[in-house]
Amino acid sequence: MKTVAVVNHKGGVGKTTTAVCLSGALVKRGKRILLLDLDPQASASKWLEGDDTGRALVDTLLDDSDLLPLVCQTPSGIDLIPCGVQFAGFDRDAGGEPGGEFFLRQAIERLPADAWDFLLLDCPPSLNLTSVSALVAADVMLGRFPKKNFPHQAVEAGRIRISHLGNSGWRSSLLSTARIAFLPSVMPF
Ligand SMILES: Nc1ncnc2c1ncn2[C@@H]1O[C@H](COP(=O)(O)OP(=O)(O)OP(=O)(O)O)[C@@H](O)[C@H]1O
Ligand SMILES: [Mg+2]
Repeated sequence: MKTVAVVNHKGGVGKTTTAVCLSGALVKRGKRILLLDLDPQASASKWLEGDDTGRALVDTLLDDSDLLPLVCQTPSGIDLIPCGVQFAGFDRDAGGEPGGEFFLRQAIERLPADAWDFLLLDCPPSLNLTSVSALVAADVMLGRFPKKNFPHQAVEAGRIRISHLGNSGWRSSLLSTARIAFLPSVMPF
C-alpha cells in the first residue's frame, strides 16, 4: 500500500477535491482505495457520506489502537476513515506527547498491507501537527497549488516551510523518504 498525503497549508486550493476525485478515478481503474480524512472540517467525509465526530480517530491514534474498526465502505467504492470537528483535539493532545508526530504513521503501519493499493490522506489547511504527521507517514506528497494568486510564491512558501522541518532527525528522514510531487492544475482555478 502506497500512502499519498494531499497537502498545502493554504485553504480552499483543492486538496479535498484532489483526494476524493483521484480516489474515485483509481477505484474506476480497479484499484482498492482507502481515504483517511484528517481535516476536522470533514469535507471529504461529508462528500463520501461518512461524516463522524472525529473523536474515535483521536482516541485511536492516542491509544495506539487499530484504525481498522474505523474503516467504512462508501457508495463511491472508496473505503473511508471519516473525520469530524472533534479531531481538532488531536493537535493539542498529541502535541503534548513525545513522538506525537509518529502516532499516525504507527497506526497506518498496523493496517493490513495488502487490503488497499493506495491510502490517500486529506490534510487540513495548515502545516500543523496533523499535516506533519501525514508527511511523516506518507510515501508521496501531493502538493495542490492553484494557478492564480501567486502560485510560484505558494510553492516557494510550501518549500520553505517543509525545509524548516528538516532541522531534526526524524524530519530529515521524512525529506529523504518522501517523494515530492507537485500536481499542476488542469482546469482554470
Ligand atoms: N481544479 C479545480 N477547478 C475549479 N474549481 C475547483 C478545482 N478544484 C477544486 N475546486 C473548487 O474549489 C473549492 C475548494 O476546493 P476544496 O474543498 O477541494 O479545497 P481544500 O484545499 O480541500 O479546502 P480546505 O483547505 O478548506 O480543506 C471547491 O468549491 C471546489 O469545488
Ligand atoms: Mg479540504
